[in-house]
Amino acid sequence: MTSGDEPADDRSHSDHATVEPPEWFVEQANVSDPAVYDRFEREWPDCWREAASLLDWDEPFEGVLCGAEGPPFEWFPGGRLNASYNCIDRHLPERKNQLALVWEGHLGESRTYTYLELYREVNAFAAALRELGVGEDDVVTIYLPMVPELPVAMLACARLGVAHNVVFAGFSADALATRMERADSEYLVTCDGYYRRGSAVAQKNKADNARIAVEQDVSVVVLDRLGHDIHLGDDYVDYHDLLAAHEGAEVEPISRAAGDPLFRIYTSGTTGRPKAVTHTTGGYLAHVAWTSQAVLDIKPEDTYWCSADIGWITGHSYIVYGPLALGTTTVLYNGTPDHPEKDRLWELVEQYAVDVFYTAPTAVRAFMKWGKEHPAKHDLSSLRLLGTVGEPMDARAWEWYREHIGGGECPVVDTWWQTETGAILVSTLPGVDEMKPGVAGKPLPGVEATVVDRSGADVKPNEAGELVVTQPWPGMPRSLLDGTDWGVPPSDGEWRYRPEDSASMDGDGYVTFLGRIDDAINVAGRRFSTMELESTVAGVDGVAEAAVVGANHETTGTAIYAFVSPEDGYGKNGLRADIEGAIVEAIGGIARPEEIVFTPDLPKTRSGKVMRRLLTAVANDEDLGDTSALRNPEILGEIQSSTAGE
Ligand code: WT7
Repeated sequence: MTSGDEPADDRSHSDHATVEPPEWFVEQANVSDPAVYDRFEREWPDCWREAASLLDWDEPFEGVLCGAEGPPFEWFPGGRLNASYNCIDRHLPERKNQLALVWEGHLGESRTYTYLELYREVNAFAAALRELGVGEDDVVTIYLPMVPELPVAMLACARLGVAHNVVFAGFSADALATRMERADSEYLVTCDGYYRRGSAVAQKNKADNARIAVEQDVSVVVLDRLGHDIHLGDDYVDYHDLLAAHEGAEVEPISRAAGDPLFRIYTSGTTGRPKAVTHTTGGYLAHVAWTSQAVLDIKPEDTYWCSADIGWITGHSYIVYGPLALGTTTVLYNGTPDHPEKDRLWELVEQYAVDVFYTAPTAVRAFMKWGKEHPAKHDLSSLRLLGTVGEPMDARAWEWYREHIGGGECPVVDTWWQTETGAILVSTLPGVDEMKPGVAGKPLPGVEATVVDRSGADVKPNEAGELVVTQPWPGMPRSLLDGTDWGVPPSDGEWRYRPEDSASMDGDGYVTFLGRIDDAINVAGRRFSTMELESTVAGVDGVAEAAVVGANHETTGTAIYAFVSPEDGYGKNGLRADIEGAIVEAIGGIARPEEIVFTPDLPKTRSGKVMRRLLTAVANDEDLGDTSALRNPEILGEIQSSTAGE
């Protein structure tokens, strides 16, 4: 069993050490004027004009924000633009021969695209999609691993003004089918398979199964990655054939209203069903472009690398849309950090002279565990700025990252945001603010957020409460704009958004994040729903009852623990395999539990409610506290002894 080696309250001290941004960094930073906070506050919401002005608009917007008091909100009303034009076409006059994408595939395989090459492939694929019948209200599902064709397909959809729906390639056929069906998506772009850790992994079979499972007819484009002579049946077309047939085609970018959908993406909701989040063309793109510039300090001449997967929001915002909107070179890596050796990432940083590197705290903790000798083998002096996202970054990992990856010199930004927020809302501005290791930072200029107690009143500095965002922001999704879902009109009538994160704020306005307050489990920066996991486990033959909790984990921050009470006559080993299989089938291997603990019964209150708090304490090897509300307190001893034996 693992337990977090950082005590949780290490993060809520008020007397944090501070680190000044180095002068050499400030001198060259995109945003370095401390007055930016006051200016944005004074001019809110007009301040966000600055973000929108990073984009090229076909029709200028008539205002910045409509509906400031409450939904429906509209950012940049009247404005029209195309995201693909903003990410590609407008850069051509100045940098058509500059690299837009640098792709590192499985060992030895790499490919680059200049902005002109990206323009050509995106146009050809957009023409192909149009010929397949893709039209305005369609949703194109993209189920690809980290290959250049993934951003190409996204940008081709954007060019046609059609929403894409990227589904993480590691998700199962069931998970893909649910996401296609809920989006009523009739087009799917996938591949035969791909390479992972040096071996081929099949992908098309999952797409086939999803296609059979959904109600609608689906046309499928298949990218040949493995070179196997795959059989393509009816309604399947080969990606390369399509490109060849449309080589040289040019597709006029379709002008979209600022609030029109750019894409949809699913995240774990609290109900167990994946929650659809739709992001907009103008507000979202302005917000990701501005934060790429102000927080990640991206310059067009940079080589920038975010090691996330495009299948998650991080990759949408900060591999594809933000960096390309700024005209920089963005790195795509289809591989794992420790294959073939644990210095793989540092080898690539050196090879491509990466300027800015953005990753997850879980990755940093893994680097730390593997040892400083791996980065030490490489010249990492090209790095100027480091960032993290996805979960709380503890002070120790922060210091290690800065020291051993950043050479003790690079500023490190700990950026907080969510699938729903679309772009970063809380972080330090590296050219302005001092950093506090273990603390994320302040709400960005133009972002209003505070920490409140249950009654909605601000808590005192350094006291834990719930973070609420009290003003709209440009990257907000459609449902918040419309006020149809999870925009919380609280009793006092003031609009606020609840991200469901607990946090504290110190006297300087810096936010420390303490974890989720809903039923989500954040494993390595990926969000899973407790309900979805539990219903999957409970659906396995032989499982009488199941409860799933998140427990501390040294590397992934949190790990999934499943507590299972079996029906009579079912053996542990068979059940364990069935449970793992069910989770892999329903969600994918990424949600496989760290531990499955068998117990004759779950701890329950007298009214029969499972006390997950106690299971979390057992998993964390913590003191159980008061168990008097339990009907069956004796069960805890049994569970403790069976976990101790694992
Ligand atoms: C949840 C959102 C945004 C892309 C990655 C995850 C947690 C995110 C931080 C951070 C502490 C963080 C929150 C948030 N989270 N960044 N810097 N410090 N926690 O996106 O799957 O939508 O999850 O991740 O709990 O609510 P997501």
